[in-house]
Amino acid sequence: MNAFSYLSKNDIYLDCACQSLRPQPVIDALNEYYTKFNSCGERVKYPWGVTTDQKVEATRMKILKYLKLSPRKYFVSFTLNTTYGLNLLLSQFDYKKAGIKSVVTSDIEHNSPFLSTMSLAKRAKIPRIIINRAEDGSIDVSKIPSKSLVVINAASNIDGRLLVNIKDVVKAVHKNKGFIIIDAAQAMAHSPEILYKTEADAICFSAHKLYAPSLGGIICRRDFVKMINTTFIGGGMVDDVNKETYLLSSDNKEHLYTKFESGLQAWGEIIALGAAIDWLEKLPKSAHQELEKQYTRLYEYLKTHPKVHLVNKAPASTMSFYVEGIDSHLLGAAMADEGIMARTGYFCVHYYLDHICHYPPLLRFSLGYHTRKSDIDKVIAVLDKLK
Ligand SMILES: Cc1ncc(COP(=O)(O)O)c(C=O)c1O
Repeated sequence: MNAFSYLSKNDIYLDCACQSLRPQPVIDALNEYYTKFNSCGERVKYPWGVTTDQKVEATRMKILKYLKLSPRKYFVSFTLNTTYGLNLLLSQFDYKKAGIKSVVTSDIEHNSPFLSTMSLAKRAKIPRIIINRAEDGSIDVSKIPSKSLVVINAASNIDGRLLVNIKDVVKAVHKNKGFIIIDAAQAMAHSPEILYKTEADAICFSAHKLYAPSLGGIICRRDFVKMINTTFIGGGMVDDVNKETYLLSSDNKEHLYTKFESGLQAWGEIIALGAAIDWLEKLPKSAHQELEKQYTRLYEYLKTHPKVHLVNKAPASTMSFYVEGIDSHLLGAAMADEGIMARTGYFCVHYYLDHICHYPPLLRFSLGYHTRKSDIDKVIAVLDKLK
C-alpha cells in the first residue's frame, strides 16, 4: 500500500523541510493510541498505561538505534520541537561549571540555534563567534576556540548542505575542552547517516520533519547532564517534594530523560514517532533512489533555467532560488494556484540570506518520499513558462 495514498493527484506538496507529510502507518499509530489505549505515561498502573509506557520506551530506543547510538551513552527526552530543545539546553547550561569561554555557531543557521546562542552569550557575558561554512557545508575546525560551546546544524534548511566533517568537528571541540550540540532538524529524515555514532553532547530534532507528528526530541549524552542546571521544572520531573526542596527523578540514572520532560507529554505523538522510524527503516532502496532521482532532476533543471538563481551548489532534497524579475511571494502564490505548495521568504535564516547574501526573498522546494515524478513534471512545466 502507498503510505501517501490519501494525497490527491493535484496536491503537490513540496514543503517537507517545514513538516513532512505523515505516512498512513503513522496516522494509524496515532489513531490506535486515541482509540485503543488513550492513557498517561509514567504514572498509570492500569493496562492502558502499561501499553503506553512500553511503546514510549520503545520509541526512545528506536531513536537511538536509528542513529546507531548506545543507550549506555545516550538517552532521549521529548520536547515540543528543535527550537524548544535547544532553548532548554542552552538556557539551563551551566557555562561556569563547564568552563566555557565562548559560544560558537555558523553563518547558515536557522534562527533557532542563531537566537538561542545569542541569548546564551548575553546571559553568560561571553563572546559569540559565527564561523562561515564552506560551500560543501564543512567548517574549519581551526577557527573554533578552545573551551567553546558549539551549536551548529548537521544539514541546512536552505540548500540541504551537510556538515560533512561533523566527526572531525566533534573530535576537535572535545579535544579543546568544549561541548557541541547538533541541530539535526533537517538531517534526521534524509541524512541520518551523518549522525551515526556521533559523539556530540546533544542532538535536537523535530519529529514533524521526520514523517512523524508535531513533536521534538533531545538526544543527550548521559555525562552532559552534569552541565545542566535544572530551572525549568514541574510535574513528571520529581520523585518527592517538600516545602522548599525536591528530589529530581533524573538523579536516578534510569530516569535521566525526565530532566527535560516537564508536565504531561504528547504520548500518542511519541508512539507515532516510533511508527515513523519503523516506516523509515523499512523503506526499500528504491524509495531512496526515487527521491534522489527527482530532486537531482529538479536541481539540474533549475541550474540551467536562464532566469533562475539557484542557491544550491549541489543537489539535495531541499533547494532554494529566485527568478530574475519576479517576486518570489507572487511566484509562490501563482504556483499554489497550480496545486504546488512551496515556501517563500527567508525560511528563518534572515541573517545569512538577507543580511549577508542580500538575496531577495526566495522560493524553496523541499521534496520527500511522497514526491512523484508527475509532481516534478508539473513544477517544470510551470517554470518553463517563465523562460
Ligand atoms: C535547520 C533547522 N533548525 C531548526 C529548525 C527549527 O525547527 P522547529 O521549528 O521545529 O523548532 C528548523 C526548522 O525549519 C530548521 O530547518
